[in-house]
This record gives sequence, C-alpha cells and structure tokens, in this order.
Amino acid sequence: MNGARAVHHRWVTTTPPHGVRRQFPRWSQLRPLLRFDLSRTGLQRAPDVAGIRAMARRRVPRAVFDYVDGGAEGEVSLARSRRAFEAVEFRPRILVDVAEPDPSTTILGQPSRMPLVLAPTGFTRLMHYQGEYAAAAAAAGAGVPYTLSTMGTVTPERLAAARSDGADQWFQLYLWRDRGRSIDLVARAREAGFRALVLTVDTPVAGARLRDARNGLSIPPRLTPRTLAGLARHPGWWANLLTTEPLTFASLTDTGGTVAQMVDRVFDPHVTIADLAWLREQWQGPLVVKGAQTAADARRVVDAGADAVIVSNHGGRQLDRAPTPLEELPAVVQEIGDRAEVYVDGGVRTGADVVAAVALGARACLVGRPYLYGLMAGGRAGVARVLDILHADLRRTLALLGTPTLSELSEERVRIR
Ligand SMILES: Cc1cc2nc3c(=O)[nH]c(=O)nc-3n(C[C@H](O)[C@H](O)[C@H](O)COP(=O)(O)O)c2cc1C
Repeated sequence: MNGARAVHHRWVTTTPPHGVRRQFPRWSQLRPLLRFDLSRTGLQRAPDVAGIRAMARRRVPRAVFDYVDGGAEGEVSLARSRRAFEAVEFRPRILVDVAEPDPSTTILGQPSRMPLVLAPTGFTRLMHYQGEYAAAAAAAGAGVPYTLSTMGTVTPERLAAARSDGADQWFQLYLWRDRGRSIDLVARAREAGFRALVLTVDTPVAGARLRDARNGLSIPPRLTPRTLAGLARHPGWWANLLTTEPLTFASLTDTGGTVAQMVDRVFDPHVTIADLAWLREQWQGPLVVKGAQTAADARRVVDAGADAVIVSNHGGRQLDRAPTPLEELPAVVQEIGDRAEVYVDGGVRTGADVVAAVALGARACLVGRPYLYGLMAGGRAGVARVLDILHADLRRTLALLGTPTLSELSEERVRIR
C-alpha cells in the first residue's frame, strides 16, 4: 500500500469539523505569497555564523578554508572552547521592560556599539582580496574596534589612509628578534593613528597546524598540480588573487616558506615580562596583552603595566589542550578586574556567547574566525553580515534574559552545566 497516497487521499476527503468551510484560494490571496525578494543575497539568507561558514567553505580553495577553520594538533582546545560556551545555561529575569535592549558599551574608554572587537588575523588577503580593508571598513560600519596584525597583508599606513571617521583601530604586535625593527613598527602604527597596542604573548614558536601541513599551505600560495585543480573549482578566488597586488606580509620583509617556518624565523622566543615593561615605556596609549591563560599571569602583566588582558589561547591554534578561556575568565576577573579590562576570545560564534562572557565578567569578546568566514563568503558585505547577525543576537538575548543593558548582566544570570 502506498502510504503517501493514503495520506493525500485522507487529506482531501476528511470532512472538516462543523464551522470550517473549504474554498479555492483566490489569486489575491496567492499573490503576496509569491513575492520573490531578489534583494536578499545568499549572505542575507544565512541566518547565523554557521551558515556563513558553510558559504565560505564553498567559495575558497580547501587550503584557505582550512587555514582559517583549523587549530593546532588535535584541535582539542578549539572544541573545548565551543563546549564551554554550550555549557552555559541562562537564568532569565521575567517581567522586566526589555523593549529597547542596548548592547552598547565602552572599550578602553571609547564607545562601542557592542562588546566586540575584531581580532588580529594574519594573511587576511588570502581569504578574500579585499582583506583587511574590508574587515576594517565593516568594523567601522558596525561601530566596533578592529585590530590589524603584525602578520597583516596591508601596512598600517595603507589601512590608516582608508580609515573612515571615528573608526577605532588597534595594532597587534609580535616582538621580533630584531627589537629595533619591532619598535620602528610600533612607531609607524602610532604615527598612523592606531589607538591601542596589543602584544600577543602566546606565540614564542609556531603551533603545529596539521591541516596546513597536510595541505602544503605556503606564502604566497604555490601553483602545484593540486592548487591548479582547485583553480578550476574557484576561478573567482584565483582571478582576484592574481589580478590584485601581490599577497605578502606587508610589515615583514623576511617572508617565504610556510607560515610556521616564518614565525619561527622572525619572532623572538626569548621574550619575557621585562620586554613588556620595556614596551610599556615606549607606548603611551592603551596597552593590551593577548594570550594570558591563568589568573597568575594576568596579574604579572597588569603589574608590568598592561591596561587590559585578553584571556585567549589563540583560538586553539598554538598550544593544544591549553586552558579554556571562558573557564579561566572568572578567576582572571577576580584577580585583576578592578585594575584592568578583561576580554576573552576563542569559540565565540553567537551574540549569546558574548552575553555569557560579559555575564562572567568580560568587558568584551574578540572574534577571529567568524569575521573571516564572512570575508571568505562575501568580502566586506560578508563581514558586515556577520556583525549584523551578532548584534541582532545580542539584542535578542538581552531581551529574552530580562537584562536590557550590559550593566545589568552578572554571574547570577548564568549557570554552568
Ligand atoms: C586565520 C587566523 C589568523 C590569526 N592570526 C593572528 C595574528 O596574526 N595575531 C594574533 O595575535 N592572533 C591571530 N589569530 C588569533 C585571533 O586573534 C583570535 O585569538 C582567535 O581567532 C580567536 O578565536 P576564534 O577564531 O574562535 O574567534 C589568528 C586567528 C586566525 C583564525
């Protein structure tokens, strides 16, 4: 017996209960349902960062997607960061007026439309030819700070020249073996108007990114038989790569080989807390340390002069099985929260994740991969879409949680399961 036909048959012949009348639909009823909204691009149809990630995967060669998406070694840190966010249970307040939820805040004394900062990411024009220009413009449009990496593919001066009014831009530093050149770069960033300096301290040597090793990712990307095969599948990406300025690390001259080889050649594994104190003397603006992973280390860097600390394991791209940032956050806030701002990153994928982190004491979260997925999926519009999604998530979560402003968030609003 054909079940589908039986169901269909029953639907047509079932006698409706008394009072319900059947009728043929009229054209005036159907017409509004048939409206095709051609203004909605694929980006608009993606409802969340996961949807944007799926688009990104289709748009760029495998090695590029994996460079962004992957972590170090067994990718345990990365998975744990996500699990920590998923373990958060919200405890809403009811019967509160939440008609105007407002996720705005201040970060290092500057207003921000939400508690979010675009994290520094190296090699950004690999993801999309618009690279840092697109990410920085979208951040400015969304009213949040953007951080340019030492491993960026655009110089601080070029990015500054494209900066829109009021944009808050930070510069991320890796200390090089050559301190003179490091400090020249810091001076250039200051000159170009970058407001805060972010010193990353979790990269004394390169992490083992196994996906990159398997894919043979190099700088610039090599044209091997495999990449040539990828060319057929992603002609747009390759056309953009080959018809725009050459893809190099704009602030480094000693490039070539794999990312890991370059990191090990140029960056200094001798860096200690004394270097941070030295840097504090060189830089008058806000100084942020990225990559503290315990409360004790957070205290050491604040004692050495840091104004803010990012609890981070580099998105699981350095030491695998490192402490999980969200889990370390409360202890760090307890230790230094009265003296410095505390941010957290790694695995933030929704606005609800940001709300959870703020409830646990973070001033703001950084995101890396989410905006890079947006960049790969659609350049500047893709990054803007991701920031829109996160802003809408934040507003909705604040309303549902009964905390219309961030100042009403506290650890009472969350429980870890
Ligand atoms: C492709 C990629 C490149 C990165 N490059 C840098 C970098 O140059 N400097 C740095 O301090 N952190 C770098 N990071 C780490 C990010 O700043 C951030 O800590 C991390 O992405 C946060 O995790 P999430 O991607 O899950 O949001 C990079 C991350 C990614 C995904």
